[in-house]
Amino acid sequence: MGQSNNKSVSGFSKLSKEDKIRWIADNFFKDPELVKKELTSFWHPNADQQKILDGFSENTLSNFVLPYGVAPNFIINGKTYCVPMVIEESSVVAAASSAAKFWSTRGGFKTEILETTKVGQVHFSWKGDIEKLRRLFPDLKGKLLEDTQHITANMRKRGGGILDVELLDMTHLEEDYYQLKASFETCDSMGANFINSNLEVFGKTLTAFMASHPDLDIQEREVTIIMAILSNYTPDCVVRASVSCRIDDLGYFEGMDAAVFADKFRKAVRIAHIDPYRATTHNKGIFNGIDAVVLATANDFRAVESCGHTYACRDGQYRSLSRCEIKDGKFEFSLEIPLAVGTVGGLTRLHPMANRSLELLGYPTAKKLMSIMASVGLAQNFAALKSLVTTGIQKGHMKMHLLNILNHMEATDEETGDAVRHFEKEIVSFSSVRDFIVAYRKGNPIPSIK
Ligand code: MEV
Repeated sequence: MGQSNNKSVSGFSKLSKEDKIRWIADNFFKDPELVKKELTSFWHPNADQQKILDGFSENTLSNFVLPYGVAPNFIINGKTYCVPMVIEESSVVAAASSAAKFWSTRGGFKTEILETTKVGQVHFSWKGDIEKLRRLFPDLKGKLLEDTQHITANMRKRGGGILDVELLDMTHLEEDYYQLKASFETCDSMGANFINSNLEVFGKTLTAFMASHPDLDIQEREVTIIMAILSNYTPDCVVRASVSCRIDDLGYFEGMDAAVFADKFRKAVRIAHIDPYRATTHNKGIFNGIDAVVLATANDFRAVESCGHTYACRDGQYRSLSRCEIKDGKFEFSLEIPLAVGTVGGLTRLHPMANRSLELLGYPTAKKLMSIMASVGLAQNFAALKSLVTTGIQKGHMKMHLLNILNHMEATDEETGDAVRHFEKEIVSFSSVRDFIVAYRKGNPIPSIK
């Protein structure tokens, strides 16, 4: 291993895991021995399982642990699910669970898959007569489909494959710039590898087709492939989830009448539709739920997030992904969101916990998983807005925050019980909890708990 100074390194990836840990610990930490112990303490006790986890990435030293929880009582299209969620933010799972329970007695969540088409593009530069290329395109398209038959065979057997390929003239935006824009059905897989493999063949086929075509002049035979890659924007792979009930059936919220609640709730959603500042936080709340299920099933949360946010500004302004309508005494709350996720392929079955998550959900199809994720996103959004328009969000958040601070201070069960009682009426902050515990441990409890 080469070293120019003790903080930079060459040949790191070739070191054993133990040597990597040693190098990190010795060069970046005050207490190297403690760091070595800590990093190895998070290794999986089963070496074979750890090997699988190591293989997902590079330069793996250890595992980064997050809470794995469940939100039970989700009734989705009449079927009850206990939904796995991986998330570090306190109160997300509690909020999803309480919204699931609330709607379980009001008909549950209904979902509808609007479409499942995914997209990939070959971006290329070309100088020539576009009309000529348009005339040649049907032949080229045939060749693209023929040359990818070996890749698409299995997917076609499962009912998917390449749905279409279009030639797009983009020269009004960038000189000599064209696209092959392809659409795909990838069934139960997210399909990234499938789509990218097809696109790379498209690039080669396009180059070869043009290079030898007798109808093209010398200059027109030359194509520069800029890149071939799927698009994570999937506005045609969309699920709609909704809940609805008569306003009177909403019940009372912290003493608030159902009609007042419904009206405030609808306005809160409307504000997120018209104001991007609010829309961003509103949608963040939706993704609190969706990301947690995406992570628990080892799907690609970066893809899901980037797509969702692009979709949220599809008319030119960033807006709420959910809608609320009050009509004829009925309250309806819905979410429409693109979700390109899979239940086979990728890490979904390789990651031991993701596999368990899928088992917990009854090994759903990708469409069912889209429905579950959208329902959890809607539940999360409902729970957040319900708190916001009634008690405010801090009541629930601070309860969880208090427990985290108490944990950090290694509070005993007795101290925790008394602190929870004390802070029912007091403001939670790190210093107020610390002062409380310090006083408590000195045998000098703060007045309100005496
Ligand atoms: C916090 O993680 C999420 C919320 O801010 C969402 C919202 O404001 O709608 C509570």
